[in-house]
Amino acid sequence: MTTTTELPFIHRFTPAPAPGHPPLLLLHGTGGNEDDLLPLGPMLSPGSALLSPRGKVLEGGMPRFFRRLAEGVFDEEDVRRRAHELADFIAEAREAYGLAAPIAVGFSNGANIAAAVLQLRPEALAGAALLRAMVPLQDPPAADLTGKPVLILSGASDPIVPAENAKRLAATLKAAGATVEHRVLPTGHGLSQTDVALAKAWIEQL
Ligand code: MLT
Repeated sequence: MTTTTELPFIHRFTPAPAPGHPPLLLLHGTGGNEDDLLPLGPMLSPGSALLSPRGKVLEGGMPRFFRRLAEGVFDEEDVRRRAHELADFIAEAREAYGLAAPIAVGFSNGANIAAAVLQLRPEALAGAALLRAMVPLQDPPAADLTGKPVLILSGASDPIVPAENAKRLAATLKAAGATVEHRVLPTGHGLSQTDVALAKAWIEQL
């Protein structure tokens, strides 16, 4: 069953089919919506509740989670504002649906806002799987991410995310105390079966 309720983001919510699994917060990429990653949820963690919001920013009609000035150049004031807005939504949705802190599973723009939420509002997330993520904030605040599990899956031939940038994100989160696993896959910006297998195995061992 997928339900929606009156919360400040358009979203989908699917209750947990089984107890004892972390809820997943599914965050789509540019041009996606709340339905995009719903099929991925049960592939990664069949027992988990799924919470899937739609980004509120529109770029030429395409939903995103924050504004950008150009590809890979972010409006960081908007990143901050939108990360706080998303963290507030997570808190309200947890209350409304009776959820533990979720593990974010973000793709591309969704991974970037998840990384910003980790840095600005670490309490909002139990951890994050960041698929094709980049550094969202050049000068992030000093967050305490001690013990937070973070998986970063990058593509070796990703035309959008430079290798150095993804490495820098991994190093920054690690320096803040997160338990970071960063893997670079022989692929581009799109997701592959290997992403699904690695993210599934990572969630299983949490
Ligand atoms: C972003 O804008 O967040 C990144 O460039 C990824 C994308 O959405 O294309």
